[in-house]
Amino acid sequence: MRTEQPKMIYLKDYQVPDYLIDETHLTFELFEDHTLVHAQLVMRRNPDAGAGLPALVLDGQQLELLELKLDDRVLGAADYQLTDSHLTLQPTQEQFVIDSSVRIHPESNTALEGLYKSSGMFCTQCEAEGFRKITYYLDRPDVMSTFTTTLSAEQHRYPVLLSNGNPIASGSEEGGRHWATWEDPFKKPAYLFALVAGDLWCVEDRFTTMSAREVTLRIYVEPENIDKVQHAMDSLKKSMKWDEEVYGREYDLDIFMIVAVNDFNMGAMENKGLNIFNSSCVLAKAETATDAAHQRVEAVVAHEYFHNWSGNRVTCRDWFQLSLKEGFTVFRDAEFSADMNSRTVKRIEDVAYLRTHQFAEDAGPMAHPVRPDSFMEISNFYTLTVYEKGSEVLRMIHTLLGPQLFRKGSDLYFARHDGQAVTCDDFIKAMEDASGVDLTQFKRWYSQAGTPRLEVSESYDAAANTYRLQLRQSCPATPGQAEKLPFVIPLELALLDAQGRELPLQLVGEDKPVGTSRVLQVTQAEQAFTFVNIAEQPLPSLLRGFSAPVKLSFPYSRDQLMFLMQHDSDGFNRWEAGQQLAVQVLQELIGQHQRGELLVLDPRLVAALRSVLENDSLDQAMVAEMLSLPGEGYLTEISDVADVDAIHAAREFARAQLAEALFEPLWARYQANREVSRNTPYVAESAHFARRSLQNIALSYLMLTGKPQVLAAALEQYEACDNMTERLTALAVLVNSPFEAEKAEALKAFAEHFKDNALVMDQWFSVQAACTLPGGLARVQALMQHPAFTMKNPNKVRALIGAFAGQNLVNFHAADGSGYRFLADQVISLNATNPQIASRQLGPLTRWRKYDASRQALMRAELERILASGELSSDVFEVVSKSLA
Ligand code: PHE
Ligand code: ZN
Repeated sequence: MRTEQPKMIYLKDYQVPDYLIDETHLTFELFEDHTLVHAQLVMRRNPDAGAGLPALVLDGQQLELLELKLDDRVLGAADYQLTDSHLTLQPTQEQFVIDSSVRIHPESNTALEGLYKSSGMFCTQCEAEGFRKITYYLDRPDVMSTFTTTLSAEQHRYPVLLSNGNPIASGSEEGGRHWATWEDPFKKPAYLFALVAGDLWCVEDRFTTMSAREVTLRIYVEPENIDKVQHAMDSLKKSMKWDEEVYGREYDLDIFMIVAVNDFNMGAMENKGLNIFNSSCVLAKAETATDAAHQRVEAVVAHEYFHNWSGNRVTCRDWFQLSLKEGFTVFRDAEFSADMNSRTVKRIEDVAYLRTHQFAEDAGPMAHPVRPDSFMEISNFYTLTVYEKGSEVLRMIHTLLGPQLFRKGSDLYFARHDGQAVTCDDFIKAMEDASGVDLTQFKRWYSQAGTPRLEVSESYDAAANTYRLQLRQSCPATPGQAEKLPFVIPLELALLDAQGRELPLQLVGEDKPVGTSRVLQVTQAEQAFTFVNIAEQPLPSLLRGFSAPVKLSFPYSRDQLMFLMQHDSDGFNRWEAGQQLAVQVLQELIGQHQRGELLVLDPRLVAALRSVLENDSLDQAMVAEMLSLPGEGYLTEISDVADVDAIHAAREFARAQLAEALFEPLWARYQANREVSRNTPYVAESAHFARRSLQNIALSYLMLTGKPQVLAAALEQYEACDNMTERLTALAVLVNSPFEAEKAEALKAFAEHFKDNALVMDQWFSVQAACTLPGGLARVQALMQHPAFTMKNPNKVRALIGAFAGQNLVNFHAADGSGYRFLADQVISLNATNPQIASRQLGPLTRWRKYDASRQALMRAELERILASGELSSDVFEVVSKSLA
């Protein structure tokens, strides 16, 4: 907890460390009521830090110091200074050894940072600044050391003892205890340290690397989960192969381990050779995990594995550079997923997510650049901007350089900086040096926050056969950044003729056309491109594949959007045209609702979706994506003032109308796909994901008609299916339906059947928390009393409270402020036990500027109440105070 107001930390204040740690030797004695940690640090003066011997300031929090030695001399209280965050002492030589012994209490650590216990096992989470809760250290990523770790524990309770690197010795002690020693030869910062002790089973496999080295792969889980590990293991092997093929990156230790833990603040952690995962990102099998969960496991396993190079072998100099490893690694895992599954569908999902959530962050009080220049609490900067926008920035570099030069750049980056802690500038420099491309202006994507707008207008000159696109870019002010300079925006486009064919693209001044789809570089605030030899008025297909994270506007008519939906050869843009058409139609309905008029759905939306549904040659996953209307979150993000009730009413009206009008084709598609599902055992592969996604979205539309045969179909699917994807969808459509008896029965049966599976119960909580029928808050409050719910488990908090505030917008934004009061109460309670989770739940309240005056006042009042509620963690304090500023 905070004793004084947290201080702002600035990138511009960065200084190299005064001292370095060459070797770290750790011994952990794990007991039920405390743990002893002995650390021996082999240190020296940093030759890059100037002359003299300044005081040595070690980080340390919540540690009980038992003994401290400098070069074997025991230090007395007069020899050092101790505060609640630092230990300071005076070295007398350039090289020295520090020995410390501390006592810590993992058994009562509820913040899940440092060493803690989860379901009876010991585990660690050190990123970003958790290692200082384990021992006194230079807890900063530019201090890189080799580690040797010995851990001892009671043999019976903790048969498995793990740490980073390779196992080098083990043995038993008297009193039923045993020990093991691990050695990690690769220098690493403390945030990559990990330790695990528990009663775990593992699945073991092998991987032969590109240079024919044999690597042992192990995934450790609680014994009852050993049947849910194969998918993660398959994903790991695919990731290792992919990173060799696409990036030339080979694994470096003899063993790679993943451990699943139930209580984890984030998704997973890339500790060297010993990744620790939220069990939700490891465990997957047909009966208990949905298709989305299977894909998430594959993506997260890949992400953490890829960090071995982009993050571990080459790490960050300081935490402002977080996107150096995260943006790059998200880009790498997105490309991996695109290669393993459907590339277009993956892109659609990522863009929809980015535009709904990252754009909202970039427009709110916590907006910050991909490389922030200040923070109070680094845990608050594991954001959508650093991760997802950071990945978009990498994608733009890939687009600008092309795949070959990008690969040359990444090879140079890894070769040049292996074993170092570096900056985003170093990454860009490697890309520039390898490609010869000047990225000076491009780097503004790292330093300027906010989502750029790109307004495009056209003019066609029939006499001259020229077509001109006029572009204007701008970027709204964000906290601390009033004015922005123009970005480099890669704009991929094509021009379509009246038959939908792509025209050859020749700019004024070029002697011949350069392809039919190309990337233009928009670099100025206002700029025009003129194409020659354009014999008819074309229709532009702009920002193909979402080639830049911007808000594009072009005055498309609804008929033009329908044309693009049918004819654009870029799959992403076909989907995008459908979304834009739906946005126009929904915004019209929102206006009608606000004016108290009768709602009337534009029949063109029905016609457009009918032709999608009736097109058998379209990938079924694409059909499903095109049938999905823009979400309430996205409609909120693109509104100036979001009218929660009108948005919900308009979207539900459109869905119900579509369901009635398209009943026949939806029912045909549903039945055909359900028939295949009924006769095909579950397979976690792309074509099967596609079939089930169309089946399930069809069912969710059909259910809106309330027809008895649809209810019967939902019940049949619920009861007879062999997998969680179909079961959970059937449950969700029942929960959102008016069939009270069937709903209650299904919820009860589900909970009885899955009550011992925490991850499945999370889904059960979420489905109910997201149900937009009236009375949402009361249902959530009742569920908090359910025996399977606990505020101590972050997955449960996210499943119930997070899903309510983040997905159930009509109920959360109830006009009486009850949703806001509820969320503030939960944040105040979590602040005392788990500040990181508390702070993350605040997101929806920070967006208060989006709403009407009355809701704004209610939301602000709750933020004020949190601020006045007592001792706030730096995590919660930073978000609340910035939101109110
Ligand atoms: N570095 C982790 C990842 O992105 C995320 C993480 C951050 C996990 C902080 C725990 C704590 O893969
Ligand atoms: Zn990561």
